[in-house]
Amino acid sequence: MTKFDPFSRRKFLTGFAVAAGSTLIPQNVLAEPLPLPVSQELELIPERITLSLTADPAHSQAVTWRTGKAIASVRAQVAPASANPNFEKAAVSVTALASTANIPGDKIVGEYTAQFEGLRPNTRYSYRVGDGTTWSEWNSFQTASDKPEAFRFLYLGDEQNNIKSLWSRSIRAAYGKAPDARFIVHAGDLLAEGYDDRLWDEWSNAMGFIGAVVPSLPTPGNHDLHRTPGKPNSKEVLSVSPLWRQHFTLPMNGPKDVDELKQQAYYIDYQGVRFISLDVNVYSNEAFAESAKQRVGDAQLAWLEQLLRDNPNRWTVVIQHQPMYPIAKGRDYVEMRNALLPLYDKYHVDLVLQGHDHCYARTHKLAAGKVVSPSQSGTIYAISVSGPKMYEIEDTFAPLRAKALGHTQAFQVIEVDGDTLTYNAYAIEGETIDRFRLVKQVSGTTTYSDL
Ligand SMILES: [Fe+2]
Repeated sequence: MTKFDPFSRRKFLTGFAVAAGSTLIPQNVLAEPLPLPVSQELELIPERITLSLTADPAHSQAVTWRTGKAIASVRAQVAPASANPNFEKAAVSVTALASTANIPGDKIVGEYTAQFEGLRPNTRYSYRVGDGTTWSEWNSFQTASDKPEAFRFLYLGDEQNNIKSLWSRSIRAAYGKAPDARFIVHAGDLLAEGYDDRLWDEWSNAMGFIGAVVPSLPTPGNHDLHRTPGKPNSKEVLSVSPLWRQHFTLPMNGPKDVDELKQQAYYIDYQGVRFISLDVNVYSNEAFAESAKQRVGDAQLAWLEQLLRDNPNRWTVVIQHQPMYPIAKGRDYVEMRNALLPLYDKYHVDLVLQGHDHCYARTHKLAAGKVVSPSQSGTIYAISVSGPKMYEIEDTFAPLRAKALGHTQAFQVIEVDGDTLTYNAYAIEGETIDRFRLVKQVSGTTTYSDL
């Protein structure tokens, strides 16, 4: 048995200064302080750094950030990533677009966006943002390949509530499972109130460095729309809150001449997959003006059909917030199914990623609203939730479902490798809750199997 040696404690203490309140401070730090950062002004330090996928992810990358004080002259720098810290010498500067935002407390903050262009496909880059004196850390990202190649991505349902306290664990679990995921699909309702900057602060902090190294592909839900502050049930407009466009810089390739859907409906072709962000709030039974619903709905539908018809990619994935076959009580979007289903069936949409119902559900392969055999033409529909708000499961569409699960924060890792798409859903403590595979046939449709 080792004898307790009182001398060892004295020896330990001699290496430290004992400050008030018994805090131990290493003496060598006191004797030789490290140089302080150039700027100590916290309000100049870039925060909320968020990557967004662009319309050309093989050659460009967008980044947004904020400072607590508005700065007129800001920039971003980018260089090929290297383990050699000298990589900084190859950095080139890009001018950022600056704007300001008024946030509660009569405070004016700086909002910035920069886009790196002319990048090489399938290449890792490091970047930083700042004002030339005060910089962020160097973060890294990888451009897409310019041809079909294997990759995986994350899919998260509604984040929405208790973002800091309970959703943070979902995004950390997802990143921990697939740190090489090329981007994060957010299927809407990122926040409970899209106009509330305090919630964006929570969201950005929960994302942490993950948002700065893995680009986002967000599709707006009903809670992301702009509403009158203090009136959470006001539903005057189909546009997102201005804060959405301050935190993301998304492709402007949506329905032509529909201002309401800019950076809400858009598409991205990524290594053989066409991802379509569809804003289906227009079908959501909310009190929008009928004339606006008609105009926006018709324009988006025509745009969608063109994207599906003229699609050079092997795979098609649609992301929409409200689900085609709801699982939560009292929900049914007949008008939406009538509008979208004929197009999904006709053009072989492979997979539809949805949220809104605060449960996990995934259908068999469906066509015309009915279950079809695994090798027939059809679409698989998933609903997921990554935040803590939970609803009870209802039976209305139960016969269509291959899997349903309540009261479980979940995330999905989806892998595409040539003719094979593998879908994996996990509870955030690691348990696999659902898996299936689609194999692409020459005809353009798939063969589906549960795993
Ligand atoms: Fe929702």
